[in-house]
Amino acid sequence: MIAAHMVLRAPDDFHLHVRQGADLKACLPSSTAWCARALVMPNTLPPVSTPSRVRAYREEIRKAAPDFQPLMSFKIMPSMTGDEVSALKDAGCVAGKLYPAGATTNAQDGVSSIDQIQDLLSAMEEWGLVLCVHGEQPEDPILTREISYIPVIEKIAVHYPRLRIVFEHLSTKEAVQAVAAMPSTVAATLTPHHMALTIDDVIGGNMNPYHFCKPVIKQPSDRDAVAAAAVSGNPRFFFGSDSAPHPKASKLSGNALPGIFCAPVAMSVVAEVFERLGALDKMEDFVSRFGAEFYTLPLNSGTVEMEKTPWQAPDEVNGFVPMLAGAGLRWRVIRRAG
Ligand code: DOR
Ligand code: ZN
Repeated sequence: MIAAHMVLRAPDDFHLHVRQGADLKACLPSSTAWCARALVMPNTLPPVSTPSRVRAYREEIRKAAPDFQPLMSFKIMPSMTGDEVSALKDAGCVAGKLYPAGATTNAQDGVSSIDQIQDLLSAMEEWGLVLCVHGEQPEDPILTREISYIPVIEKIAVHYPRLRIVFEHLSTKEAVQAVAAMPSTVAATLTPHHMALTIDDVIGGNMNPYHFCKPVIKQPSDRDAVAAAAVSGNPRFFFGSDSAPHPKASKLSGNALPGIFCAPVAMSVVAEVFERLGALDKMEDFVSRFGAEFYTLPLNSGTVEMEKTPWQAPDEVNGFVPMLAGAGLRWRVIRRAG
């Protein structure tokens, strides 16, 4: 029996790992089923860090999914200078992504200190590109890496007062509070997994490598702070799935890379969180409006239709195991149109 039904403006995903080649073809349909447009992360091998790689990657994505608009980002390399920014913008980039060296998957060649990229950040501020930050101090203990990165974000915001900054995938109550108190140039993406799961879903029973990501999922109080920020109606908190698939074989290899494939259940999880908190009427702003406004992009014109009907998350999608594999869920995307 259908208990409820809703139609939303087609969502944007302001943080998506689209991958490459066969992996891209295997995973992207799980996003395009509900997502019209996404900010594509550049931590591929080799990284998306030159205008020609930006163009080639966008072509690869468009060929695989003609009904989907990739928003391109470039990976900030320590050697980059401000002179490179205008060509990256011409190639279609709306953002540059800062990975602290060693912070996560394919970030060994990231930035060790923001002092290395002052000239680049000035140019991004000048050209109106958004700075996206994986905000973790890699040398610190895993559970406090995000908290110790907060002063770095604060420092960048003060030094570059017109630079728009996104503190990606918040996982702690401290980061949520900090972003809320920062200037209006600083926003944050929130993921389905950080608003719905806790560390017990990763290592509380048997170890679940499919729920292992960076930043790692934390305590109930952190989850609750992330969920509260999502439903708060504050336009500086918006949706970015950070869906980051790794093949099942790699997750089971004994050397599991961080990354949660949440795309197959992302809208269902968000709808359940918003419904539980009595805020379903605010979901559309969170998934389809606030991010586009922060990035100064037009809103999508298409729609997604969801219905409240029990279903089971898939155990596997083309060799990739999603978040909450096999679990019972309530809301389901039934159609994307336009
Ligand atoms: O868990 C993560 N996986 N966090 C990241 O920052 C990168 C991502 C990936 O690319 O797998
Ligand atoms: Zn990511």
